[in-house]
Amino acid sequence: MVQEAKALDIVELVEQAVAKHGARRDAVIPILNEINQAFGYIPTAALPEIRRRIHAPAEGVFLADSHLYSAASFYQLFSLKPLGRHVIRFCESAPCHVMGGRQVIQALQNELGLEIGETSQDGKWSLLTTSCLGVCGVGPVFLVDDDIYGNVTSDQVPEILARYK
Ligand code: FES
Repeated sequence: MVQEAKALDIVELVEQAVAKHGARRDAVIPILNEINQAFGYIPTAALPEIRRRIHAPAEGVFLADSHLYSAASFYQLFSLKPLGRHVIRFCESAPCHVMGGRQVIQALQNELGLEIGETSQDGKWSLLTTSCLGVCGVGPVFLVDDDIYGNVTSDQVPEILARYK
């Protein structure tokens, strides 16, 4: 079961993150990152809490919740929904694709019983895609949490997943 962040925890964490990084517009990404790391995702309830605490710059352009939503949606390492205990990020860029990525992502989907973007009912796995991870020479590539796997074949998928309890 995936756990959602509690409202009081969200307010407390936003206050801490703003105090740490500064109540400035250019601190928004570090603040979002802090929240994403703490909860494993960015609860949408955190966005107005951040907006209320960020000071308007001298030219008076106020931050809107939609600006924060756009920033949180843009970065692939941020999520706006709770994720599983283990997060797979499969590289979907062309160099990995031509090295057999399609078979590997299919093996991951079959093994987990998940479509891309889904989290398992038991909250153990989330299956996501990402753009190039910068190690194209060893494609196909995917991350499980912070562990990177390269030159992966579809046959290796069950054994790799079995390493995560
Ligand atoms: S294309 Fe997959 S790591 Fe670069």
